[in-house]
Amino acid sequence: MAYNQVQNATNRTFERTLSYDKYTDPKVLEKEMDLVFSKSWQLVGHVSQVEKPGDFFTVDVAGEPIIVNRGKDEVIRAFYNVCPHRATKLERTEAGNKKILQCGYHGWTFKLDGQLNKAPNFRGEDAACVKDACLRSVRIGIMESLIFVNLDDNAKPLSESYGDFFEKLSKFSFLSELKRTHQRTRVVKANWKAYIDNYLECDHCHVAHPGFVAALDMNDYQIITCDNYSIQGTVVKPDKKYGSVNLDEAEMQGGSFYWLWPNLMVTIYPGPGNMATIQMIPIDHETSLAVYTYYFRDENLTQDEKDLVAFAEQVRQEDIELVELEQIGFRSRAFKNGRYSSSEKAILQFHEMVLEALND
Ligand code: FES
Ligand SMILES: [Fe+2]
Repeated sequence: MAYNQVQNATNRTFERTLSYDKYTDPKVLEKEMDLVFSKSWQLVGHVSQVEKPGDFFTVDVAGEPIIVNRGKDEVIRAFYNVCPHRATKLERTEAGNKKILQCGYHGWTFKLDGQLNKAPNFRGEDAACVKDACLRSVRIGIMESLIFVNLDDNAKPLSESYGDFFEKLSKFSFLSELKRTHQRTRVVKANWKAYIDNYLECDHCHVAHPGFVAALDMNDYQIITCDNYSIQGTVVKPDKKYGSVNLDEAEMQGGSFYWLWPNLMVTIYPGPGNMATIQMIPIDHETSLAVYTYYFRDENLTQDEKDLVAFAEQVRQEDIELVELEQIGFRSRAFKNGRYSSSEKAILQFHEMVLEALND
């Protein structure tokens, strides 16, 4: 399929993009926190982070403190990391192993399944009125070892939220052997949506990513919009390799770059079994935290794997510079919105979903 053909794209076409005030107005971000981030599945971790009963990690989702743990019964659960006694943030550390969770304020303790264990300041008759106090649970979904939570109690299950995405992902047979090996974060001076826009098209690849277009066959680059997600990808040029990755390896596959509504990107590069996730988490309306998480077979990366990370990070650095320049222009009075090319249907899908979520 030719580079600029798009399958399954929505029939509706917009000449103009989302208006730029959507990238610069703090009130828009407030709405997005309520209507987008608090109602969608958010990646929080990987099962390799909670291998044993008692293992836990803490995260923030849409400004809410969340704790994920593995119970004595081996079940992985998610709770608001908030004490039911007087709202104190319960677990302060990022990760660890605890048989019991204890609040540091008045010493209430909770079992790993969220049930109250002891409330030392409620004895005798008082004890009866807190016996049903337990941690408030959060919707959790685990697919392909990735742990997601959704703050919306009525959300569709994770397995039904992204069409056949997880089925596609499961075709990469090496995925089950991977663990979360490292994570990097980077503050980006741009609205979170600008980075997603950038990821969702490759018209800029020829201009901005010389290493990328040298390694991948851009004549066969495809962008396909699907149910709440999209895919882009191509194959490696037969005579090329990037870094020292040996492209004769049996497990070589084409580059596959997925986007999942609203702010998750999953990339699988050719070469040794690998996956990376990118999350764009708003810090404020014009600043975002990019969270890059890598998954390989082992923490001790081989030279090939190190080369792959260096290659991916070079491409990301090139993208970050572009979206930071774009944010400067979003603030300008020069234009109110942009235009889509015919190969930018995945951005159009994303923008339509944003407008629908915001009821605009
Ligand atoms: S606030 Fe947690 S025990 Fe009082
Ligand atoms: Fe890019």
